[in-house]
Amino acid sequence: MDVLLGHRYRTTELIGSGGAAAVYRAVDENLGREVAVKLFSAGIREDDETRRQQTEMQLLATLNHPGLVTLLDAGVNVDDDGRSSSYLVMELVDGPDLRGKLKDGPLSSSATAALGADLADALNYVHSNGVIHRDVKPANILLFPQEDMDTRLYPRLTDFGIARMVEATVATASGATIGTANYLSPEQAQGAAVDPRTDVYSLGLVLLECLTGEKAFPGPIVESAVARLLRDPEIPERVGPAWTDILRAMTARLVDARPEVHEVAVALRSLASEAMVLDGPGTAPSPGSAAFGDPDTGESATGGVTTGNIYIPAPPLHAPSLG
Ligand SMILES: Nc1ncnc2c1ncn2[C@@H]1O[C@H](COP(=O)(O)OP(=O)(O)O)[C@@H](O)[C@H]1O
Ligand SMILES: [Mg+2]
Repeated sequence: MDVLLGHRYRTTELIGSGGAAAVYRAVDENLGREVAVKLFSAGIREDDETRRQQTEMQLLATLNHPGLVTLLDAGVNVDDDGRSSSYLVMELVDGPDLRGKLKDGPLSSSATAALGADLADALNYVHSNGVIHRDVKPANILLFPQEDMDTRLYPRLTDFGIARMVEATVATASGATIGTANYLSPEQAQGAAVDPRTDVYSLGLVLLECLTGEKAFPGPIVESAVARLLRDPEIPERVGPAWTDILRAMTARLVDARPEVHEVAVALRSLASEAMVLDGPGTAPSPGSAAFGDPDTGESATGGVTTGNIYIPAPPLHAPSLG
């Protein structure tokens, strides 16, 4: 399909689609460059969906950070049948999204740590602006194409469709139009109030999958959602103690046991530089290699770990009851 939106953006190719929108590669004919256009389905007049579209537009319009996709324009298109649908014009992030990237296998320890640190910084910016993303998952993490000798990935977090201001944190069933439950936090799975550390939990599951190549809680929605209430994600020993401590803390079932996202950013940044020295750029992780963790990380009396300057608390001895 080839449509001219707003007398300016000519769509060329479908690059992604979710429940209520389709994302196209398009040419901005004024500036002669490629952009991405997210076109919401026509004729949806449901309150929830309209609110979702407006939230996404308003949040993207106010937020500006190198770890977030940039909003360029927005408009409403009226098709030949008179049905109107709104659209967002964004910068084109012309690589695979992280979901596509992981189909080629897991990432190295250093690549995962650097990616995680970038995403944690972006989320710290988001949280500092009073917003909770609520849908951190590989399909919402866009990646710029990598040059041959690149030493890192360049992520951009997108899809603020179900993001909320911190004050309005009760996730109603209708607020979460979810395509997958794989990365939901326990509190989301229960329909309970969410906190910025909901994003920390989801990021923890994403990073664990980057290292292992496997989803921690696979399966259909209900099965996957329930599993995280009953157990912590399995973290294989081969990722090493440093990763185990960070991921364990990030995916603690009790919200208060999780670190804030800025603490995660600092811990991952230092892990990234250590891992870079050990496994070098672009190398695959070797199970059991020292690249995964520094055996000298300071174990404290309470079982917590100091990575760089940050103290990551040990997970609670007894998993909290979430019933
Ligand atoms: N700016 C962009 N540049 C390149 N690809 C994009 C861009 N935005 C979205 N996509 C692709 O389209 C998919 C769906 O976009 P998203 O905003 O997550 O929509 P949905 O709300 O339907 O999940 C993403 O997973 C990604 O693959
Ligand atoms: Mg999405």
